[in-house]
Amino acid sequence: METINWKELGFGYMKTDYNVRCYYRDGKWGELEISSSETINLHMGATALHYGQESFEGLKAFMGKDGRIRIFRMRENALRMQHSCDGIMMEKLPVEIFEEAVLKAVRLNKSFVPPHDSGASLYIRPLLIGSGAEIGVKPAHEYLFIVFVMPVGPYFKEGFKPTDLVIYRHFDRAAPHGTGKYKVGGNYAASMVSGQEAKHGGFSAVLYLDSKEKKYIDECGPANFFAIRGNSYITPDSESILPSITNKSLMVLAGELGLTVEKRKVPYEELATFDEVGACGTAAVISPIKRIFDADENREFVYGTEPGIWSTRLYNKLRAIQYGDEPDKYGWNAIVE
Ligand code: PLP
Ligand code: COI
Repeated sequence: METINWKELGFGYMKTDYNVRCYYRDGKWGELEISSSETINLHMGATALHYGQESFEGLKAFMGKDGRIRIFRMRENALRMQHSCDGIMMEKLPVEIFEEAVLKAVRLNKSFVPPHDSGASLYIRPLLIGSGAEIGVKPAHEYLFIVFVMPVGPYFKEGFKPTDLVIYRHFDRAAPHGTGKYKVGGNYAASMVSGQEAKHGGFSAVLYLDSKEKKYIDECGPANFFAIRGNSYITPDSESILPSITNKSLMVLAGELGLTVEKRKVPYEELATFDEVGACGTAAVISPIKRIFDADENREFVYGTEPGIWSTRLYNKLRAIQYGDEPDKYGWNAIVE
């Protein structure tokens, strides 16, 4: 293995030693298979290729000071993938298969788990695709589940340094009764043109408004949105956003730190009232936001150029639990034996 400079890692694909696969054929899931190949052999008529029968997940493993590897809230990801299966009519993957495959993939690639003090982690990418051929628009009869992993650094290259978001009313990511609440590839395809425009404008991501009325805050392309005002942690309740496991965890930690948690519709106008704003997710962790630019109204909302006090406390607390520096009193970590 080439030497990896753990501290310089960004968020990108890297080949690791093994991946774990499981096939659904003839009405049943098979045994887990270990592979060292980076490619798959796929029927050209696979529903994943034509009709977007595809769901993925993202979770992370962390190296503790004690040399033990911890995987954060794996069951939540397994359950969310099942929810995505219901949303796009894929064969539901049993939670036990998801968990066993994730544990196996991490164990087999132990040497790629970044050291405790690097600030990096092992990103785990489970993927489920309709692999059976259909030419009419209907669900496949065969599915392939794969788990692969790679060491990663921060998703936004600035890491925990505040970045800028942009609002565009001429782009939508997901419709209110569409697939925004599922983790399916089509949502990400739908966010690429706007995401690219944002990057070219020097923004780290798009902050989407609700597609129907353009009155409420939804989320960012790859992360949920939260804000702090006074003693409140405020985060959108919306039918078209992904239920983030990081956000769910931050709501618990915010309560523990003495904040009141408000999960509700967040009107656009409230952007002018927040003390701190952040994007949160597995890849993004907490990414503080210093400015939101509304490109249609030519209006800006400015927050601190340094991470706010509550965002910093929440970030430190979440990281301490994930890296095993604080007791895991909610039982969020699975230890990889
Ligand atoms: N929202 C979207 C659209 C995402 O892709 C992600 C990433 O998974 C999130 C939110 C954050 O979710 P989680 O905290 O479960 O990673
Ligand atoms: C994650 O945070 O795990 C995600 O899936 C976001 C992503 C689009 C990289």
